[in-house]
Amino acid sequence: MNSFHYQDGQLFCEQLPVAEIARQEGTPFYLYSHETLVRHYQAFDEAFGDFDHQICYSVKACSNLSVISLFASLGGGCDVVSGGELFRALRAGVEGGKIVFSGVGKTVAEINAALDAGILMFNVESSQELDLINELAEKRSMVAPVSVRINPDVDPQTHPYISTGLSANKFGIPISEAVSLYQRAANLPNIKVVGVDCHIGSQLTKVSPFRDALDRVKSLIEELRRLKIDIHYLDIGGGLGITYDAERPPLPAEYAQAVMGVVNDLGCGLIMEPGRALVGNAGILVSRVLYTKVGVTKNFVIVDAGMNDLVRPSLYNAYQKIVPVREFTGKEIDQKTVDVVGPICESGDFLAQERLLPPLISGDLLAVMSSGAYGFTMSSNYNSRLRVPEIMVIGKQYQVIRRRETFDDLVAGEIMVDWRPKVERS
Ligand code: LLP
Repeated sequence: MNSFHYQDGQLFCEQLPVAEIARQEGTPFYLYSHETLVRHYQAFDEAFGDFDHQICYSVKACSNLSVISLFASLGGGCDVVSGGELFRALRAGVEGGKIVFSGVGKTVAEINAALDAGILMFNVESSQELDLINELAEKRSMVAPVSVRINPDVDPQTHPYISTGLSANKFGIPISEAVSLYQRAANLPNIKVVGVDCHIGSQLTKVSPFRDALDRVKSLIEELRRLKIDIHYLDIGGGLGITYDAERPPLPAEYAQAVMGVVNDLGCGLIMEPGRALVGNAGILVSRVLYTKVGVTKNFVIVDAGMNDLVRPSLYNAYQKIVPVREFTGKEIDQKTVDVVGPICESGDFLAQERLLPPLISGDLLAVMSSGAYGFTMSSNYNSRLRVPEIMVIGKQYQVIRRRETFDDLVAGEIMVDWRPKVERS
């Protein structure tokens, strides 16, 4: 469910015509619906009902401060994977005690910052990382709360680049080595074992891989308890998929039922790290047609957004629906097969290939749907293009939540060396 719909022949976000925002702010831009963000958060939260749970929104999906603070206002915490994401979460007002820190490559500075913030737990991904956290906590006379990220070797049946729970992936500790690592962790003086963590991949469209992974994690927790290592939290990661095309991923309620069905009698507080399921279908990328070009074998629609603005189609060959902002009706819907491409100097710069679209002309606006997750956060300045604004619609109004970059922003961190030969003074 989302709040983008046609009304009076044009695309609206909530109660605002998208074209009106384009007129005032220019293109391209990311547009998020406040109503959809809130609805998605609440649906996820309510799906777990009275079960002891904490949503730790996965900041990497869409890290704008206003998005994080919106979820925080609804009770959400954060899942962060870098010092930068930790900074954002704290800046957005998220309590340290609601932040979990995942990732295979935490640095000394990042671990220290997380200790200072008093985070809920580190999701430890290697034996060496565990030792470093212990050492850094000791220097601060602290005890660091940790869970170990388990790699359960379950196939999430998703794109290989976003599958993380297979033994061939770099993530987590093989489940076969988990008990000995936990035993070691339990004996480290500046470590407190608090949980078990497991994230197997992203854009999952079935519940069965979640269930399989949780079955394995549950057995591990039972074994740890037999060894007198108590586990308070079970972090089930993120990964719930959304509809981009014809996928029918489980609804939050089905996902929650499946999870609770496995972990019901464990007595652990649940932590979940949803990203895409909260923000994916709450955002679109709005772009304008610059030119249309009839090629020898293909027809191109050249737009003002490229792979630097939205890389998912190029990187994962991901399908994202594209719709015209003015509604085409009747005879006009004489669709043509086109490639929608950007201005970047790469043949891999496309937003869609071989796509049926109505006859577009220069100046038409297009909306790339389902762009709220891993859209802006994966954008770059490649080809020295300015990163685009992020805008949020709230009912009949909109708010720019990140301004369009300027050329000065582009070179702000650069230092231009003066190469002119120095004139010797006598
Ligand atoms: N927790 C951990 C430890 C993760 O690595 C991820 C995503 C999440 C939670 C959130 O997963 P979600 O609920 O969003 O599926 N750039 C890719 C997706 C990469 C996901 C990386 N990890 C894409 O555009 O499809």
